[in-house]
Amino acid sequence: VSAYVFSDGVELAPDAIAATAQALRAGQLVGLPTETVYGLAADADNATAVASIFEAKGRPSDHPLIVHVAAFDGGMSGVAHYAGRVPAFAQQLMSAFWPGPLTLILPRRDGVGAAAAGGQNSIGLRCPAHPVAQAVLAALRQPTAGEPVVWGVAAPSANRFGRVSPTTAQHVHSEFADRPDLLVLDGGPCEVGIESTIIDCTRGAPVLLRPGAITSEQVAAACGRSLVTPEELDAQGQAAPRASGTLESHYAPNARVRLMDAKALQQALDMLGTDVDKSPQPGKSIAVYSRAPLKTSARQIELRRMPTDPAVAAHELFSVLRELDALRVKLIWVETPPDTPAWDGVRDRLQRAAA
Ligand code: TXA
Ligand code: MG
Repeated sequence: VSAYVFSDGVELAPDAIAATAQALRAGQLVGLPTETVYGLAADADNATAVASIFEAKGRPSDHPLIVHVAAFDGGMSGVAHYAGRVPAFAQQLMSAFWPGPLTLILPRRDGVGAAAAGGQNSIGLRCPAHPVAQAVLAALRQPTAGEPVVWGVAAPSANRFGRVSPTTAQHVHSEFADRPDLLVLDGGPCEVGIESTIIDCTRGAPVLLRPGAITSEQVAAACGRSLVTPEELDAQGQAAPRASGTLESHYAPNARVRLMDAKALQQALDMLGTDVDKSPQPGKSIAVYSRAPLKTSARQIELRRMPTDPAVAAHELFSVLRELDALRVKLIWVETPPDTPAWDGVRDRLQRAAA
């Protein structure tokens, strides 16, 4: 019996926003919809609540979390609360892309958000575009009757450490099935579907830490600076920043994921013949997810088409991985996405799922 605020993705119960804000004020964890993926949210300035995020996810406590801020002033007051110096290029990126799927790593203001930042002297800030997330953040910033202001919510993706991020409220419930009391605010399926683009703004030049829906080209164009990669920083002798989303193996379903081009995929299917598995078990053994139309005569193969539009592919990516996993296949063969900037986010998630 979960405290499930069901919305059908359309209309929330009238008191859902207030109830969620109240739970966050009380130091509880909440499953929160954003336009990218669902977050596991807590008051970012409550160290105990933040510690319970790490515990629930099974995430090492030195892996920093993203703090989400309200949008009514373009996110500026939230940024002023958590961040120290804000470089001009970061300011330009906020004006261009907030509210939206872009996280900026900024120097952290002394004495603020240390637990959320995992002890780092920087902090990741994002102003999400999802109206439900924004309604909660606004309610937290406008307290009634003497309550303190809550400046932001720390929210990593609401999945167990290393697993596929959730893009529906149901996904969050299945990740935390052992916590039936977890409040999950249902804001419908996430529009973007993969996590925000992360730009480190603490190193003089913008550094791309995680590709997402906002491409490196768009970021470079908006701030008039070209992006540096962590590898280039490394080559210059600067220590590359650590981000758990940038660990090689992440976003992993239970089945083994393998990336191949369309030709190799078709050849692999042809080699299987008609029987994948000699033992006649009823289910599917291999799932294939490709943009190209493929053929197989094997009965135990689940063929599924990947959308040709990268934004649509991102939107459904994690849902499809979960669906294919639920077939209990041993292998998921995926056609490698095109090597173009628009596919960077999807390609990155698939490469990590395959690692
Ligand atoms: O779209 C998103 O960003 C989602 C939604 C919920 O907003 N959140 C999300 O959080 O993906 P999480 O915790 O799964 O990934 C956050 C990433 C991690 O790779 C973390 O290491 C990095 O952001 N990060 C956060 N603060 C950082 C900091 N101060 N320095 C370097 N990396 C940081
Ligand atoms: Mg995550």
